[in-house]
Amino acid sequence: KSYQVAVVGATGAVGNLMVRVLEERGFPVKDLRLLASFRSVGKTLSYKGGCIPVEELKEDSFKGVEIALFSAGGSVSKKFAPIAAAAGCVVIDNSSAFRMDPNVPLVVPEVNPDALVKGPGIIANPNCSTIQMVVALKPIYDAVGIKRIVVTTFQAVSGTGKRAIEELRNQVEALVQGKEPKMEIYPRQIAFNCFPHIGAFLENGYTEEEMKMVNETRKIFNDPNIGVCATTVRVPVYYGHSEAVNIETKAPISVERVRELLSQAPGVRVVDDPANLCYPVPLDAAGKDETLVGRIRLDPSVENGLAMWVVADNIRKGAASNAVQIAETMMARNLL
Ligand code: A2P
Repeated sequence: KSYQVAVVGATGAVGNLMVRVLEERGFPVKDLRLLASFRSVGKTLSYKGGCIPVEELKEDSFKGVEIALFSAGGSVSKKFAPIAAAAGCVVIDNSSAFRMDPNVPLVVPEVNPDALVKGPGIIANPNCSTIQMVVALKPIYDAVGIKRIVVTTFQAVSGTGKRAIEELRNQVEALVQGKEPKMEIYPRQIAFNCFPHIGAFLENGYTEEEMKMVNETRKIFNDPNIGVCATTVRVPVYYGHSEAVNIETKAPISVERVRELLSQAPGVRVVDDPANLCYPVPLDAAGKDETLVGRIRLDPSVENGLAMWVVADNIRKGAASNAVQIAETMMARNLL
């Protein structure tokens, strides 16, 4: 069987990649509908050697569509995802709009595929930083349990979208020419800088992005007691989020055993031979769907402590590829 698929936000950084990933992975698409704002009407995108026109997203855009991948921001999802679901679509939504809704599954196929239910309805794609962290931690969680996670992220600008990628490029160009850098998207200069400010600051002193990592990790592991303390930092990198992840496991586990478990884990590649300059970096993760894990070592400052470095392409595994993998998993499990 092949499916009628729509991509909402098809002209954006993630939406465009969703189209590429559908093509690359050979998802059985019968017909592909590309939706964006009125600003994109007249544009076309290439797909399997042909050209598909971009249409304006409207309430009646989902007639006959079976799977809709959304990546056009929270407000578009809030309005249109329920409309698409009511029209009979399985909606896989990359925004944060429905992630914490108790009736909406929040899914990383390598981690909690059993949370998927037979469509139509909305399925949420987790936050990019959460996805790569839980992919790397799942084998350890299953083996010995995890009590607490302390994570610091180094997040690429592509997560903010196309205009943020341009802002970094423009600021770098301006600065090397001795000109004043323009700031439109980010609160602080991103070129040659970094700032611990992703999403708005909340009353508890954390940012929205940090609390997403706390709440989504608990929901995905179905473990309200797991402790998570996150510091999320934007860095001048185009593609690929890095994370320093420090965990306290419930039972002891050796570094060798962690390496062995991670080498067998789906979606993970261990890159851990520092003496030969072999550790994950965003430039190596970019363009790949795997989560790279390295610098695996004991944390002697606490009982059962482990430290590691986790890198993945934030708009692939962190967004577009995870969304397409959700569709593939539903297809394989007869849930579409
Ligand atoms: P458009 O290109 O027509 O503005 P990014 O995350 O890279 O900034 O991309 C955002 C995506 O969401 C784009 O495809 C953008 O379309 C789309 N989008 C933004 N606002 C709307 C809207 N109100 N209706 C439909 N699509 C929208």
